[in-house]
Formats: sequence, structure tokens, C-alpha cells
Amino acid sequence: MSHIEIERRRTFAIIAHPDAGKTSLTEKLLLFGGQIQVAGAVKSNKIRKTATSDWMDIEKQRGISVTTSVMEFDYHDYKINILDTPGHQDFAEDTYRTLTAVDSVIIVVDGAKGVETQTRKLMEVCRMRNTPVIIFVNKMDREGKDPFDLLDELEEELHIAVRPLSWPIEQGMRFKGVYNIYEQNLNLFQPSKQVVTEKVEVDIHSGQLDTHIGKPLADKLRADLELLEGVYSAFDRQNYLDGKLAPVFFGSALNNFGVQELLDCFVEIAPSPRAVPAIERTVNPEEPKFTGFVFKITANIDPNHRSCIAFCKVCSGKFVRNAPYLHVRQGRTMRFSSPTQFMAQRKTTIDEAWAGDIIGLPDNGTFKIGDTLTEGEVLHFRGLPSFSPEMFKYIENADPMRQKQLSKGIDQLMDEGVAQLFVNQFNGRKIIGTVGQLQFEVIQYRLLNEYNASCRWEPLHLYKACWIESDDAPELDAFKKRKFQYLAKDRDGRDVFLADSAYVLQMAQTDFKHIRFHFTSEY
Ligand code: G4P
Repeated sequence: MSHIEIERRRTFAIIAHPDAGKTSLTEKLLLFGGQIQVAGAVKSNKIRKTATSDWMDIEKQRGISVTTSVMEFDYHDYKINILDTPGHQDFAEDTYRTLTAVDSVIIVVDGAKGVETQTRKLMEVCRMRNTPVIIFVNKMDREGKDPFDLLDELEEELHIAVRPLSWPIEQGMRFKGVYNIYEQNLNLFQPSKQVVTEKVEVDIHSGQLDTHIGKPLADKLRADLELLEGVYSAFDRQNYLDGKLAPVFFGSALNNFGVQELLDCFVEIAPSPRAVPAIERTVNPEEPKFTGFVFKITANIDPNHRSCIAFCKVCSGKFVRNAPYLHVRQGRTMRFSSPTQFMAQRKTTIDEAWAGDIIGLPDNGTFKIGDTLTEGEVLHFRGLPSFSPEMFKYIENADPMRQKQLSKGIDQLMDEGVAQLFVNQFNGRKIIGTVGQLQFEVIQYRLLNEYNASCRWEPLHLYKACWIESDDAPELDAFKKRKFQYLAKDRDGRDVFLADSAYVLQMAQTDFKHIRFHFTSEY
């Protein structure tokens, strides 16, 4: 029983550069899962650029994404869990962490724009974890790049071998459809948001193909396919599962075109829950005992309900409501009376969940990102390292009477993973590092609303914060003496060098050969 339950689960995230079509694709997948009946029902959780000045608006928009953080549905014999990721790049850290909880990923690329910054960064995270990826080239109903060029670009920019499993026939106004290489049938394009187009079984070498798309296009398709077969070797599922090969599909999410091919192939080839490495040992999903880890904590936007939701990925066994579980970091047993699972627009209390599932646990500050729950075993799942932040500010207390509240607020927000905290060892000042400007606004707003504490930001020009270590103690000491104004500690007490320019960092690396400068916190 447990084996079947785990085998049929597909837990994944859709990632994309903003505007590539992630929301549209998610919506169409939900349509196939019967979770929604009409297109247009899913709101984008994208933070509109116009709203960036007003955090309240952002929060309202994010409210939508809280309930839709995980979307589950059954499709044929499969149980699909889609983990949503924030659309705005200032919340990229959230996305990185979500990627620790998925077993595979679908990357959406805009066919006209190709690989964009955010896609590149997210792919790096996938590569660090050998996450299997499928690429969906979207917006084929628009004029875009030549598909052969695009395949080359994907390989070069994303550093992964690709293998097209569908192939477009023209594009833009002339877009006729896609030939499904995997199933060997033709799908003719009809622009429509609601209707799922009929597929036509054709032998591409027969005159049938000419009847459907005309001789010139039929000849071109045959030539393209021949070229593809020559250039790309046959699809090898194991290479895909190892994260070395990305199958590519073409379509138009807005028109619900090419999406079903993607989904049908996805459920077949994508991995069921995979083994998860912990520091102590590797945990297999089929193990009978429950284990899980918290990968995301979401604040409740309703001020009357202060509690947060901790999102826990079940790594092995079966989670049961009200059963006693060990919160490993705190060394205490906890029971959860109202764990939730998530449907497209609502969440419901559940009695059990299996490896691969995501459960929401109401949280009042007991969880930190990365916390492990087990049936008693002491295990620590390896999370994702923190990356060196890109923006820095000093955080100062703006209300001397509420110093304690401020400290507590900062601590808890850091536990949630909103940003990173460093303490300058020279002047004792607290530095907050983020990946985007928005997070400073989020922190200030939440400190005030949730902890009744006011903070003030002071500018700090830094290029990078890097973790340093060395086996050469005298050299490390010499470095610390020379750079005493630029040394900080992270929350785990590790040494961090605050480089104020690329040049300074480069000089430090040249002058201190035995010091290792790390740009992620795990080394
Ligand atoms: P995102 O979540 O990745 O940010 O992308 P989203 O799905 O919101 O799509 C971004 C824009 O691209 C939307 O237009 C959407 O309608 C459009 N789009 C998505 N898929 C396709 C496609 O296959 N073909 C074409 N032509 N357009 C597509 P928008 O104007 O920003 O929003 P809206 O007013 O349409 O909602």
C-alpha cells in the first residue's frame, strides 16, 4: 500500500523568469486535474511592478499565494503536488528553498526571449541538487527564436543537455501545431483558452501529413525531424532522472496548447519521491517511519491570527494527525491536531499524508527553516545553503523602549528565512542582507505589525559577504587583523568577510592564498 501511494506521487515546482508563463501553465495543469473548471480562475501571485512602492498591496497579492502555496490534484492514477514559487525575484530565496522540497522541476521559457536571468539562477540551484528538469518553451503562438537556435541556447546557458520531445510547426501567426515526438502524433493548433485540441495520429512519411499541414510544411517537418534524430540521441530517461538531460516541449500555455502532452509525458517520466540525504544517513521514501523537514514558513497576513504556517515535506513513511513526533532541534515531542493540505483555492485538514506530500503545520514560532520531524530518530536533513546576499543595510532601533521586541522580531524573521543577519565584529552593528529591495520593506512592515517594533535602515555599501575559513591559523589571524573593520559573524557564529568592492575581494584572495572565500554558507 505505502509503496503504491509513494510511487504515484509527483511533487514538483514550475519555475520561470517573471512573465514567461508560469501562472498560465499552472492554471492549465489545474484545469486538467479538474481542480478548476474555467481558465482565468487562478490569479497570478506575481507582484505587479506598479505595486512595489506599497507593501500593503504586495501583501494582499501575496495573500493569494499563501493559500495556493501547494496545489494538489489527481490525474489518472497519479497524485500531483505542484509547489508554487513567488513570481517576484526579490523573493528568490523563497524559491530556492522550495526547490529543496521538490523531486523535479518544469522550467518555462518564453520562446521569444529565451533564457533569462532568473531562469539561469534557478537552474543553478537545480544543478546543485541534480534535480530532473523538463523545459516547456512557451508562447509559440508568437514570433520567436528559431527552435534549433533555442535548443542550442538552452544547452549553453543552462549547462544541460537537451532532447526535444515535441517539435513546433512554424510559429507566431503561422503556428500550425506541434508534432509529438514522444507519442508520434500530430497536434494541430486552434487558438483557444478553454478547448483541448484533438490529436491526429499520422504517419509522418505518409501523404496524410501533407493533407493536414500542406506539402511544404510537411516536408520541412520531415527534414527537421530527421535533423533532430541525427543531432540528438534517443531520449534516455535515466539521464533525465540524474539531472543530466532535459526533455523539451513546445506549446502555448495561454492557449492550452501542448500542455497535455507535457503533462502526460511528465507523469510518466518524472520521478516519484526520491531518497533525501540527511547528515546522519540517506532516508528512503519507502521507509515505514515518518520523517519530514520544514522548507518554508509563511506568515499569516490576517492580523487577528498571528500564527504562521510551516510547510513540511514528508520525506518518508506516513504522517498521521495527532501522532507524537520528535522536533529534533528542540528535542521535544509534538502532536499536530490540525495539519492541512492544499487544494487549488482552499485548504483542508488531513488525517494522513505520504512521502512526497507537503503538509501545512500551524506554527507559533516553534519552527525554523530546515527543522526536522521524526518518530524519534535524531536526523538532520541537509537544506540548501544560504547564498551571499546582494543588498545590505544596517538595521537600527527606532524606538528605544522596544529594543527587546525588535531583537525578538528580527530573530524570528530570520528563522523564517526572510533575510540573513550578520553582526559586524568591529562596531557590533546588525546588518541585514537580502536578495532584493522589497525584503527591507517586508521586514520593516512586519516588525511593526507583528512585533510592534520600529526599525530604521542605514545605508551600507557592500559588494559581497563571504564566509571565510583557513587551515593556516596565523594567516587567518593576519587577515582578521588587517580587515578588522570588515569582519562579521553570521547567526551560527561563523566568520564572514564583508567586501566592499569586487576589487577588494580580489586583492584579499590574491594576498591571502590559504584563505577560502565561500559564496554559500555550506562548505
Ligand atoms: P508568469 O506567471 O510566469 O509571470 O507569467 P503569466 O502566466 O502571468 O504570463 C505572463 C504574460 O504572458 C501574460 O500576459 C500572459 O497572458 C502571457 N502569456 C502566457 N502564456 C502565453 C502564450 O502561450 N502565448 C501568449 N501570446 N501569451 C502568453 P499579461 O498581458 O502580462 O497578463 P494578462 O493580462 O494576459 O493576464
